[in-house]
Amino acid sequence: MRTKIKLVSQADLGKIITIKGWIRSVRNQKTFSFIVVNDGSNLAGLQAVFEANTPGYEEIIKSLDTGASVSITGTLVQSTGKEQSFELKAQEVTLLGTCDPETYPLQKKHHTFEFLRTIAHLRPRTNTIGAIARVRNALSFATHKFFQERGFLYLHTPIITGSDCEGAGQMFNVTAFNLEKLPHTPQKKIDYSQDFFGRQTYLTVSGQLEGETYACALSDIYTFGPTFRAENSNTARHLAEFWMIEPEMAFATLEDDMECAESYLKYCLKYVLDNCPEDMKFFENFISKGIIAKLEHVVNTPFQKLTYTEAIEILKKAPKKFEYPVEWGSDLQSEHERFLAEEHFKKPVTLINYPQKIKSFYMKLNPDGKTVAAMDVLMPSVGEIIGGSQREDKLELLEKRMDELKLPKEAYWWYLDLRRYGSVPHAGFGLGLERLVLFATGMENIRDVIPFPRYPKHAEF
Ligand code: 4AD
Ligand code: MG
Repeated sequence: MRTKIKLVSQADLGKIITIKGWIRSVRNQKTFSFIVVNDGSNLAGLQAVFEANTPGYEEIIKSLDTGASVSITGTLVQSTGKEQSFELKAQEVTLLGTCDPETYPLQKKHHTFEFLRTIAHLRPRTNTIGAIARVRNALSFATHKFFQERGFLYLHTPIITGSDCEGAGQMFNVTAFNLEKLPHTPQKKIDYSQDFFGRQTYLTVSGQLEGETYACALSDIYTFGPTFRAENSNTARHLAEFWMIEPEMAFATLEDDMECAESYLKYCLKYVLDNCPEDMKFFENFISKGIIAKLEHVVNTPFQKLTYTEAIEILKKAPKKFEYPVEWGSDLQSEHERFLAEEHFKKPVTLINYPQKIKSFYMKLNPDGKTVAAMDVLMPSVGEIIGGSQREDKLELLEKRMDELKLPKEAYWWYLDLRRYGSVPHAGFGLGLERLVLFATGMENIRDVIPFPRYPKHAEF
């Protein structure tokens, strides 16, 4: 029976165990070799000591290259080395798969993250990408735990959709047409009635609209799935495919939404601090000094609540020259968001009541008639991590807004029905998982915290 390295413990001392994994390094001494094996279950892996007088030593040691896969059986003993508390006294080393040292791209040396992106299929074997994968897993698990403990129902919303949730038109088309031979209507438009779904369809930008329908029947739901945006944003914060978590609560206001968002973020970060100490120590030492204290600070500090109007005042008085001008009514740029969270308040900021004209059509109009009950959570170093709002639950107001924006009301008939039949106040938000992983790990580029990043001109693997 194979033991995962993470589970090897004090209790195994003196026992014979078998580990399996990939070789990280081999150091040959005169009478023995040190072999460090990693199976991804933890960061450190396990060191085996392979004595030269073990039968078969000469034969096998020749093929023990970095990256080769092995099975090692031996006795677990206390280590005399400083770096680890146990090591395996190897009795049997079996080579499972060789690894050509001439061509294996992951030799034991420093590689840039840019280079690692070009070998995204092998980069999970590095310390950093392995640690990110474990933290990402922990954050996903914590997400389910948090919402399940609060009685939310996990809802699967469709990936192929006919409606544009954000009304921003940054969607990828989904079609079964032969693109070389598109059918046309007499008016020379593409005839989507002949396409697979008999209409134009897209990859979803958000599961919110469908989520609202279930919230307006089952009270509290959350989605957790891939979302897609065809925006040509070549930044360290944007992906064309990312995973979004979207809770939606019936009988809820913006206040409830803010409370849920803050509790959720704190819960996830505390979960990582409690459950990934080894990986967090790695990020602290090698990726971002002070990251642990930064997470603890967020967990222990109430978020700063602020209106958009107040934020504009602060930004106008800022002792800093911004690239983009600050004007009431204009959208905040990442530099503004980061100034507020990172430099001015030095903690997460929940910004509310944005001008209606810079936000999506479904947000609830405030009594002032010009702002909406929107909420964005801004994090130090990452900027916007959450976007949410109370939804417009009045049919006339929602229809009026859709008309103003020239959105095709027919396409949203089912969404409008929620306001026709038993409309209730409801609210929700969306969190981009990758932005959360970025914050938690202190990594700088969003392309390194998702296994296979999709961004302009990149869809390899
Ligand atoms: O602010 P957004 O666009 O809000 C929505 O999609 C709403 N429908 C959510 C809701 O109320 N249910 O996106 C929500 C979050 C952002 O705050 C950000 O964290 C992330 O999704 N996000 C992206 N992450 C990576 N790459 C992109 N291109 C992203 N666009 C948004
Ligand atoms: Mg947003």
